[in-house]
Amino acid sequence: MLFKKKAAETSLEKVPQHIGIIMDGNGRWAKKRMQPRVFGHKAGMDALQKVTIKASELGVKVLTVYAFSTENWSRPQDEVKFIMNLPVEFFDHYVPQLHQNGVKVQVIGDQAALPAPTLTALQKACDLTKDNQGLILNFALNYGGRAEITGAVQSLAQAVAAGQLKPADITEDLISNQLMTASLPVEVRDPDLIIRTSGELRLSNFLPWQAAYSEFYFTPVLWPDFDQDQLVLALEEYNRRHRRFGGL
Ligand code: FPP
Repeated sequence: MLFKKKAAETSLEKVPQHIGIIMDGNGRWAKKRMQPRVFGHKAGMDALQKVTIKASELGVKVLTVYAFSTENWSRPQDEVKFIMNLPVEFFDHYVPQLHQNGVKVQVIGDQAALPAPTLTALQKACDLTKDNQGLILNFALNYGGRAEITGAVQSLAQAVAAGQLKPADITEDLISNQLMTASLPVEVRDPDLIIRTSGELRLSNFLPWQAAYSEFYFTPVLWPDFDQDQLVLALEEYNRRHRRFGGL
């Protein structure tokens, strides 16, 4: 009921249940302002907060955001350090409002490689919000899609080697159950829509399995400038798409 009313207010017939966002362009946004790149990441957090609240109001169930890829470690050490500290700031300054809005924080990615304070801040955010029933804000942090699929293949191969599974019994659902997104409710595991900002037209190892039937929305807007109105524009475009899932 609430979902229908909210959607009607912005004349959206369909609201994607799961949106994936590649938040790109923070560095260029800062450079345009003669500021260090990390200034852009800070502004990117503000954008993420606004977009999360708006998505939650519109009835979106899951927002998976690409915060740090397995390839991002090759950035200058200072920048990596800054990004790794963002979850600490996130917990202190952003989570209280999200918690008030019923947002549940979750994380996918290889967490074992994260610095301890980063991990602690993320765990605190997840623990505090674990019983919330609203939008799931799913951080992809130290995430890589090929590594995720490799891990899934390894665990299925182990089950085969142990005689617990026959190769012929491996199904798409079994593979999906081994991916990191298995932590999401089953009906919303795969993104309906993937947004990438800053004019780049790539997936960059973000949810390659899960994106098989996603709609893509690319915009030249740099991530820190992506606000509530930009989200509505993306959803209006999504409403003009006709998803056929291979049918007619
Ligand atoms: C890409 O822009 C952005 C990132 C690698 C980091 C994005 C992270 C956030 C917005 C904050 C996430 C929040 C938490 C709590 C972890 P870029 O640096 O590649 O920009 P450029 O392409 O212009 O250089």
